[in-house]
Amino acid sequence: MAISAEHIRTLHKYEKTILSVLERQMSRYAWVPLEQLITSTGFAESDVNYRLARLIEWGMVRFNPVPYDGYALVFGGYDTLALASLTRKGTISALGVQLGEGKESVVYEALGLGPVAIKFHRVGGRSFNSARVNREYMADGHCPWLVASKLSAEREYKALVALHPKVSVPLPIAQNRHTVVMSLIQGANLNRCILEAPAAVLDDILENVRIAYKEGMIHSDLSEYNILMEDGKCVLIDWPQWIDTAHPNAEVTLNRDIDNILTYFKRKYQLSYDREDAIQCVTG
Ligand SMILES: Nc1ncnc2c1ncn2[C@@H]1O[C@H](COP(=O)(O)OP(=O)(O)OP(=O)(O)O)[C@@H](O)[C@H]1O
Ligand SMILES: [Mg+2]
Repeated sequence: MAISAEHIRTLHKYEKTILSVLERQMSRYAWVPLEQLITSTGFAESDVNYRLARLIEWGMVRFNPVPYDGYALVFGGYDTLALASLTRKGTISALGVQLGEGKESVVYEALGLGPVAIKFHRVGGRSFNSARVNREYMADGHCPWLVASKLSAEREYKALVALHPKVSVPLPIAQNRHTVVMSLIQGANLNRCILEAPAAVLDDILENVRIAYKEGMIHSDLSEYNILMEDGKCVLIDWPQWIDTAHPNAEVTLNRDIDNILTYFKRKYQLSYDREDAIQCVTG
């Protein structure tokens, strides 16, 4: 799902107000009634309707007519609110090209003080997107995708703050709603690299896993897809699912992370690294 910087730039102040009211009211309603929007904004009904139609067309809001006319924020609207806040604070000034899209996020390049990356978390996006599912999940007025996506971003940001710069991770710059702004890594995902010195890179990765472990954190989704190579050094990315080393599944999870990496280097570079040695080296 592409983010339309064009529409965000040209957003009318009434449209921003409507998005903010929807965000606030969605802790109370699954679908915010039209009357509530009129009351909360203080705008005329015709203005609210006109602005809502535009927000719907741009993929920022959804409409549901049953059992009453209600409106809800969708990811496009939540993205817009986050970008508006980050822009107002001067964290970013322009949105650039899309860098990646995963199961549960979309990442863009952006301009901050320098080039930065902005990750929009999208937890539960696909499954909560149909109106039918929305009605079921949101019947009690909670908005699971919004809450889960925000929590996911907060969790990732927390990891970056705790680990940078001891562990090679992107520099955390800001966090707003379901977004994380971090330094832009200039490099390719490990799976797309052909390494000249694979053994040294494997050591580098395990050393970073070791330091993270010493800091109390296990990545939990470590693989060649979540490692970027910048100037021959590895950078570990994609941290929202990290777990504490005191977690009951810590050992299994750490072993799986290490297995993923060892399996990859064995398959691609025929490097045999003893599994027990690797685990020993990480856990000390
Ligand atoms: N700081 C960054 N600098 C440059 N590129 C990045 C940065 N963060 C992410 N990317 C790019 O975006 C892609 C997706 O990011 P990330 O791995 O964090 O999320 P994801 O894979 O979408 O998440 P999920 O695992 O939930 O699907 C990465 O593979 C990488 O190519
Ligand atoms: Mg990833």
